[in-house]
Amino acid sequence: MSIELTRRDEFAVITLNRPKALNALSFAIIESLGDALDEIASSDARALIITGAGDKAFCAGADIKELRNRDLMAQKRGAELGQATFAKLDRLPMASVAAINGYAFGGGLELAMACSFRLAVPTAKMGQPEIKLGLVPGYGGTQRLPRLIGEARALEIIMTGRTVDAAEAERIGLVNRLIEGDPIEAAIAFAREFSTFSLPALGFARDAVTRALDAPIHEGLKIEADLSTLAFQTSDAAEGMAAFEEKRTPVFRDA
Ligand code: CAA
Repeated sequence: MSIELTRRDEFAVITLNRPKALNALSFAIIESLGDALDEIASSDARALIITGAGDKAFCAGADIKELRNRDLMAQKRGAELGQATFAKLDRLPMASVAAINGYAFGGGLELAMACSFRLAVPTAKMGQPEIKLGLVPGYGGTQRLPRLIGEARALEIIMTGRTVDAAEAERIGLVNRLIEGDPIEAAIAFAREFSTFSLPALGFARDAVTRALDAPIHEGLKIEADLSTLAFQTSDAAEGMAAFEEKRTPVFRDA
């Protein structure tokens, strides 16, 4: 199996498991990834962690050997499949964390960027090297990279195809944090910083922040007013505010 879906405590873990090809994304792997995301969507996992098998790569991108010789329509369908699969991450009821344990190039970085958060080991290397192949990112890179790090930096990375090391990635906001030790353990420790909070409230917060980048500010503020009002109506909000007054730890029930 080139995708492994496992459970670690309250967390789902997807491991891209094709280390001999640096976990490159064949179309079959993308389809399996989509199936795994569907399974997680209806599970009770409190966060999803995605990583790559082995200590060399998170994912070296689309499978270049498979891309070659495809006709244009097959290529377009492939890009749409990759985009639609990664977009499932946005619609999960729980947040996702990419634990970047090595190379994250092309479609690999695009997968990491589709996650809610990115953590990277200090030796990780990232980039959108498609231009060196005469290509352009096709699984969301031209859209998510500027949203994360701004237009000028994104254009530079996409047009030069250069490699970004982990320290720079953290400095420019491409990754949230650098991690030490076992990447899955580190990602679990990170996820525990938010995973005990109310899942609906976390979902509303993710939704509001994600939509901030697509909407003019007056519409974004309306979205925020609507979502914060929805959060206010949950019993978790009643519990959280009561616990504050009663000076105790709240017990959230995701309701
Ligand atoms: N597709 C298919 N196979 C790949 C691959 C990829 N993206 N990346 C690496 N591999 C394979 C290599 O062909 C090699 O296989 P063989 O042993 O059978 O020859 C094996 O993985 C190990 O790779 P290297 O020997 O090249 O390892 P390295 O440590 O010397 O170099 C690397 C690592 C710098 C990541 C290099 O492998 C590389 O440049 N890979 C391609 C990265 C890339 O261009 N990614 C973008 C792909 S296009 C894309 O993703 C489009 C999109 O937007 C969706």
